[in-house]
Amino acid sequence: MTERALLVIDEGTTSTRAMLFTPDGTCLGSEQKDITQNYTAPGWVEHDAEEIWSLSLACAQAMVAKAGGAGRIEAIGITNQRETIVFWSRRTGRALAPAIVWQDRRTANLCRDLKDKGHEAEVQASTGLLLDPYFSASKIAWALGTWPQLEEAGNDLCIGTVESWLIHRLTGGLHVSDATNASRTALMNIGTGRWDAALMDLWQVPGTALPEIADCAGRFGATSADLFGAPIPICGMAGDQQAAAIGQACLATGDTKATYGTGAFILTNTGCEFRRSEHRLLSTIAWQLGGDRNYALEGSVFVAGSLIQWLRDDLGLLASSNESEALARSVADNGGVYLVPALSGLGAPHWQPDARAAISGLSFASSRAHIVRAALEAMAHQTRDLMAAFASDGANWQSLKVDGGMIANDWLTQDLADLLDLKVERPVFIETTALGAAMLAGVGSGMFGSLEEAARMRGPVERFEPKMEEKDRDVRLAGWREALAAVLG
Ligand code: G3P
Repeated sequence: MTERALLVIDEGTTSTRAMLFTPDGTCLGSEQKDITQNYTAPGWVEHDAEEIWSLSLACAQAMVAKAGGAGRIEAIGITNQRETIVFWSRRTGRALAPAIVWQDRRTANLCRDLKDKGHEAEVQASTGLLLDPYFSASKIAWALGTWPQLEEAGNDLCIGTVESWLIHRLTGGLHVSDATNASRTALMNIGTGRWDAALMDLWQVPGTALPEIADCAGRFGATSADLFGAPIPICGMAGDQQAAAIGQACLATGDTKATYGTGAFILTNTGCEFRRSEHRLLSTIAWQLGGDRNYALEGSVFVAGSLIQWLRDDLGLLASSNESEALARSVADNGGVYLVPALSGLGAPHWQPDARAAISGLSFASSRAHIVRAALEAMAHQTRDLMAAFASDGANWQSLKVDGGMIANDWLTQDLADLLDLKVERPVFIETTALGAAMLAGVGSGMFGSLEEAARMRGPVERFEPKMEEKDRDVRLAGWREALAAVLG
């Protein structure tokens, strides 16, 4: 290897990993470790922040060794599960409490109270978000009011999303976040890119504990020399869904990507103007470079790959996730079975944290193949509902760029094209989140002059054309609407 490589740390909900890329986008290696999910009460999900750190570091160290040492690394890019919030000591760098994960619903009542008091309009106007437990602010408010060690920490307390936590540990003390991650906290004003005094007041969050908000690319700092043998500059940061949009080269207004990972997250690039959704979508920052923000509309679906995991691990309906494709193909249709995957409430466009999942239309003729097929079909159904919400907000998709673990399933990808009646584009190299973080790190280090130039890292794509007849699509959509209506009540 003659050119220096870009190292990515991609800390996701269920696993953390490090990947190594050449400047032309070739992936040289990857090291992955699972993150423990702690379901401490119904609807609660916690991670051990120290585990996130130690496993992420171990993965990064393995990749530095593979590259031939720190001197072979041009820069690090960090991308992460968003909204998940970490509390730690500025002085010792140690976590002070469990990390509360984005899926956690413990603040549903708190959000409902504020909604009932009429606060949602002001929250949406300044953050682009809605009042839902998904976002970090209500989790921070809950933790500050519940865990005494956080108040006792006073000015020693640091609060941040996962990239901030990792950077604090990597650099030995820097407290910094980027605009994409900060835009998911419900504490940042999306128009100014700064922490918002009125929001900090609403949620009772001390500004002293929050990180500085930076661009997504730049020279933020360097890793402590003892971690990798020599300091490595950290030059890229973005939330994982924004990184996937960058990795998919959604660089022009209207470009749209959908990532089917633990959840499914769809972003349409809306350019440099902040647009507030009228149809229960989110406005978010796609990236910030040189202080200029590029915005996106987002549809967040809380359950995607986690549904297949649940069918496999808890219901025992699948021996492996891969088996879902063969099972879906083994039946002619869903046999009238529909699955509404509201296992942790419903996100966009419904925002019902208390909704619960349902499987409907079962008869003695229903087999496990029908249930598994209904689970896969739910991805297209939910995406179709979001496509309608995006269109109502003036964002008409011309095609959809897909990625994420579930998308390796050809049947599912074709079903998306069929149900959406839209061209679907799947990159051959499916790890677009990590690729996006590598692109940002390359821009931040000066390896690339712009994201457009960095986009040459993206490889070839496969295209899926819609083939379904309209009458079949109508039957599917009618069945889905009925099943969904029963869940929404
Ligand atoms: O908003 C939550 C999202 O960032 C989680 O992403 O990849 O862990 O499903 P993922």
